[in-house]
Amino acid sequence: MANDGLVVGLDIGTTSIRAVIGERTEKGTIEITGVGISPSLGLRKGVVVNIEATLKSVAAAIEAAEMMSGREVHACWTGIGGNHVDGVNSRGVVAVTGRSRDEKENREIGPEDIARVLEVARAMVFPMDRQILEVIPQTYIVDKQPGIRNPLNMIGVALEAEVHIITCSANSAQNLIKCVNRAGFRVNDLVLQTLAAGRAVLTEEEKELGVALVDLGGGTTDVIVYFQGAPYSTISVPLGGSEITQDISIVKNISFENAERAKIDARCCMAELLENDEDIIIEGLGGRPPLPIPKSQIAVIVRPRLAEIYRMVKDKLDALPLSRPLGGGIVLTGGGAEFLGAVELAAQVFRMPVRIGNPLSMGGLQERYNSPLFATAIGLVLEGNIRDEEKIPDRGTDTKVREKKGQVSFFGKIWEWLKKEFF
Ligand SMILES: Nc1ncnc2c1ncn2[C@@H]1O[C@H](COP(=O)(O)OP(=O)(O)OP(=O)(O)O)[C@@H](O)[C@H]1O
Ligand SMILES: [Mg+2]
Repeated sequence: MANDGLVVGLDIGTTSIRAVIGERTEKGTIEITGVGISPSLGLRKGVVVNIEATLKSVAAAIEAAEMMSGREVHACWTGIGGNHVDGVNSRGVVAVTGRSRDEKENREIGPEDIARVLEVARAMVFPMDRQILEVIPQTYIVDKQPGIRNPLNMIGVALEAEVHIITCSANSAQNLIKCVNRAGFRVNDLVLQTLAAGRAVLTEEEKELGVALVDLGGGTTDVIVYFQGAPYSTISVPLGGSEITQDISIVKNISFENAERAKIDARCCMAELLENDEDIIIEGLGGRPPLPIPKSQIAVIVRPRLAEIYRMVKDKLDALPLSRPLGGGIVLTGGGAEFLGAVELAAQVFRMPVRIGNPLSMGGLQERYNSPLFATAIGLVLEGNIRDEEKIPDRGTDTKVREKKGQVSFFGKIWEWLKKEFF
């Protein structure tokens, strides 16, 4: 566990880098004491393409958060996402060899059986350039009886596990770690961005019923689907807010920067929801007069592109072999969730209940940053805190940069999970 009581989340996005400092209170809760944002200049679609530019942005975001909190940051939980992330479901089965209850066939499932079945479920062949980010147990089957959440101490002969395995490009992961290290900070671990955002905004009930968290970022739209309480699918669509800005720039014949400003000022994707259709004033270039554009005209450009992104997500959701519809519907995070009408438009496309994912209540400064733009960064603090608490004692403090070679961390993860569940 970090001995300075700090839990720092670092959300390296395509548009912005956000650092959030959480401090553990005596009551065991977490308070947000520092937040820093800097423009992200070295990423394309969630992938680092310029290390120098990214490390400068990382340093700027963390330094701003340090200034606010008055604390010095040494290590952080870093988010990873984008089109290179992939999730697959897998299963494994083992014969129960655990503690024998009687002299006959009956055997009691022990922690070592659970660790073994998870290892078997994980033993898929991935290409050399992939690395495992997470292996998350979904459910267990004991002697053909499905739907078991916790098989420890059950009597059985065969133990089966279903897991969700999330992999990413090994090079992208290493470049991300390199940027943070070269900015002067250790990476406690890489955490899937949508998993972190889910930690901050989803309720247990939604996860149980089935829900899709749709993170409308600048470069990509990343989705995590929960079903029956556990992650079920990881989806990414290579379109985001940048394409919306690009459309405004082309249609209105203005620069990308002016189009970005116009988009954020208008903040609307459904013209009929605007109470006052005011003009946005775009500065004239080279002595030309300023150009007024009604907000409704921006909304008319935003709408079809956002609807297209939603439809691409919907097509992927429809292709999932789910046994029933997602009762928890859709939860929107990221910059795109800020549009007036984002929820209404999503409800039209998905034909499901939709809501905005504001981070669940925490102490400290969080009220000021209670927006879907901060779901990932705040979620990284929450996830980091949980992983810190679960850390095995002999692994010591968080002074080590974990190089995240799936195999190395996997046994640690199983041990952490077993400790959380059973001890
Ligand atoms: N108030 C707003 N209204 C509409 N769009 C917004 C608003 N604020 C930010 N955006 C847009 O949201 C996008 C950035 O969102 P976000 O910060 O979630 O992305 P990111 O994390 O940097 O990128 P990614 O997750 O794709 O790597 C940009 O395209 C930005 O223009
Ligand atoms: Mg993001």
